[in-house]
Amino acid sequence: MATDTHARDAAHDTARPHDTARPHDTAWPEDVAEGAVLACRDLRYSYLDRFPALDGVSFDVIRGEKLALLGANGCGKSTLLKILDGLVFPDSGTVHAFGGRLTEDNLEDEQFNRGFRSRVGFVFQNSDAQVFSPTVREEVAFGCLQLGLDRQQTLARIDDVLAMLGIADLADRAPFQLSGGEKKRVAIASVLVMNPEVLLFDEPTAALDPRTQHWLIELIVELNAAGKTIVLATHDLDVLDTLADRCLVFTEEHRIGRIGTAAEVLGDRRLLLDVNLVHPRSRAHR
Ligand SMILES: Nc1ncnc2c1ncn2[C@@H]1O[C@H](COP(=O)(O)OP(=O)(O)OP(=O)(O)O)[C@@H](O)[C@H]1O
Ligand SMILES: [Mg+2]
Repeated sequence: MATDTHARDAAHDTARPHDTARPHDTAWPEDVAEGAVLACRDLRYSYLDRFPALDGVSFDVIRGEKLALLGANGCGKSTLLKILDGLVFPDSGTVHAFGGRLTEDNLEDEQFNRGFRSRVGFVFQNSDAQVFSPTVREEVAFGCLQLGLDRQQTLARIDDVLAMLGIADLADRAPFQLSGGEKKRVAIASVLVMNPEVLLFDEPTAALDPRTQHWLIELIVELNAAGKTIVLATHDLDVLDTLADRCLVFTEEHRIGRIGTAAEVLGDRRLLLDVNLVHPRSRAHR
């Protein structure tokens, strides 16, 4: 299957044009888990100093795992993904990525920035906020230009990734004229073309039809099987068996209430009620 081949090749393609620089605050936190690629310690963040989003959040992301961020509306999942992608910076606490400290200052360093951006990709919940080029082909080419790939490498990667996502026929269309599901494929293509090691997905299955949801779930599983580390935010308990090795459950006070396997979390109805992931009158999840 084209997806499988590409993803596996991509996972083995470890050479990067600009490997993440490590001169900036290289030390990991002392208690970091073995195999961690990202490590957050005591993250706190409020919007406009008034609206709390994260209140003391610490965890590691382990290379090759599928980690689900779970919690009710407004608990802080999207904010955390933005922090992991270096789009938002915590008021306090630390984020380490691949051993280097992820800070606004370090991301201003071109080499660090390219290294980090080539290793972490973020698929937004709202594809309209992600796709902006005049054509799908240019949209997907954008990431390659960021990486500094030459024209031939860029063209080959674009063809590959468009075929992998089944959107070769959309290459010359304007992204803003596509349907929501088509835009989502384009947004994913624009991220995968950079061949990142870590993929962040915000509510990946939201607003997709059942067939497209199924396709995307399978794609995430295949990417993970090919070696990609996955972090995804979701409210959809039904996808956890497939999409989560571990779940990080947020409370509505913007803290982590529990870290456990999908089975542990799904089996804990009290927890799911407490964090508003099930309704008291709903059937037990299983
Ligand atoms: N731009 C913003 N300005 C002010 N407050 C914000 C902003 N974005 C988010 N917030 C607040 O931060 C908190 C966390 O929001 P966030 O979007 O991270 O939650 P979430 O867990 O992703 O929710 P959802 O499940 O609805 O997507 C919420 O209380 C929200 O009101
Ligand atoms: Mg969100």
